[in-house]
Amino acid sequence: MFKCNLLIVEDNVDLCETLADIFRKNDFNVQTAFRTDDAREILRRDLIDLVILDLKLPDGSGLKVLDTVKDVDSDILVIMITANTHVEPAVEAMKSGAYDYIMKPFELDEVKLVVQKALETQILKREVARLKRQHESMFPKTDMFSVNKKMEEVKRMIKIVAETPRTSLLIEGESGTGKELVADALHQWSIRSSGPFIKVNCAAIPENLLESELFGHEKGAFTGADAMKKGLFEMANNGTIFLDEISSMDLALQPKILRVLETQSFRRIGGTSDIKLDVRIIAASNRNLQEMVNNGEFRDDLLYRLKVIVIKLPPLRERIDDIIFLANIFIESNNREFNKSIKGLTDDAKELLLNYRWPGNVRELKNVMERAVILCNTAYIGADLLPSELNADAGDTVSSGVNGVSPLANGHFGSLAEIEKLHIEYMLDQCSGNKSKTARELGISRSTLREKMKLYDIDG
Ligand SMILES: Nc1ncnc2c1ncn2[C@@H]1O[C@H](COP(=O)(O)OP(=O)(O)OP(=O)(O)O)[C@@H](O)[C@H]1O
Ligand SMILES: [Mg+2]
Repeated sequence: MFKCNLLIVEDNVDLCETLADIFRKNDFNVQTAFRTDDAREILRRDLIDLVILDLKLPDGSGLKVLDTVKDVDSDILVIMITANTHVEPAVEAMKSGAYDYIMKPFELDEVKLVVQKALETQILKREVARLKRQHESMFPKTDMFSVNKKMEEVKRMIKIVAETPRTSLLIEGESGTGKELVADALHQWSIRSSGPFIKVNCAAIPENLLESELFGHEKGAFTGADAMKKGLFEMANNGTIFLDEISSMDLALQPKILRVLETQSFRRIGGTSDIKLDVRIIAASNRNLQEMVNNGEFRDDLLYRLKVIVIKLPPLRERIDDIIFLANIFIESNNREFNKSIKGLTDDAKELLLNYRWPGNVRELKNVMERAVILCNTAYIGADLLPSELNADAGDTVSSGVNGVSPLANGHFGSLAEIEKLHIEYMLDQCSGNKSKTARELGISRSTLREKMKLYDIDG
């Protein structure tokens, strides 16, 4: 897939050459150094992906080289080599960012295995970073991440609505699916983004106060109204108002909202004239409003007016391909927040996450990952750090029909060869089978691509 630039820093010349030989045979670009000074020079001069680093070198500790790695590019993975009498400094090295350590004497296969795991981690990290970059260039200023097809559709829809300045929007979805993020994105992506964005949680404001909160009141409108007060609609002028949990709104207040939607004007309580308004109304509900209409709990005319454009957010269990992707994103953000360097999830943990029903959707996943990161003292989050509810669901099978998503984005782990095969298939698919384009995208020649396709038995 990519030719790995490996630096081996080991003062035992025989060992160094043996390792170099093995990795050269496995298609790595290998450089060697016997001293910290040389290693640091190479790191500064060349783009290194991976370092195998002896802890004890003639001119000082390997930790000095680790410091240089952090200065140059903290994404470079470092595997420490240490004598079995020197485990403690190796553990220290891992705390300061080394990926793993191997104890001398070791089997060569062991080194190969650790290197292979390290590369898989790095490929995954790069893929996540690439998808994030791609996402950010397409959809700036949002925390809504996804690799799921349906969610891509959601984002495309938000973009379309964002370009019309007044169209209202109804967002439906279970709790924790990201309704508020959709509202945020719609405001941010529209020309109204320089205007105010007012969020009103209709369930959190007592019924008798909601009307005056929304519409304001004139002086003397009712007992206690000793001054004119502007309402939230007025404050949202030239911007967006988000009526969250609109299902909680009193039936008596609903026609007044309908009127604002229809006339883009409103009247303060106790006021005698209409005030013109220029505002986009976004409403959200985690209850099914149509059912509420059928039960007489919500007005049909308001629903039909709101329903012109509806975005339905799929629950997390219907976007399986997002689960590991989002879990990795949350691990990354929690690593930053709690100053940790957790590398990912064990296969067991992934399986539990994938088999759980996620009634609390992305919010629940976010909380589960925060807790796990806080509790985790190892490099990978294991199944034991996940809440017991997840274990209760184990055994249920959920199909992971992932279409058009790189296996890497799905947190797939396997041998390097397996990942390479899957990635080639994915890129071929992305490039509609065009081999020249695929080879270009993969950074390899057409003939190399042909060889690899033959090797992995890929049709095309
Ligand atoms: N696609 C996503 N990417 C990253 N974070 C997300 C995503 N979707 C939701 N979240 C996070 O999950 C949490 C819940 O999202 P949000 O508040 O938008 O859900 P909601 O649908 O409004 O839920 P509720 O119905 O309970 O109000 C937030 O912390 C949000 O940042
Ligand atoms: Mg919400």
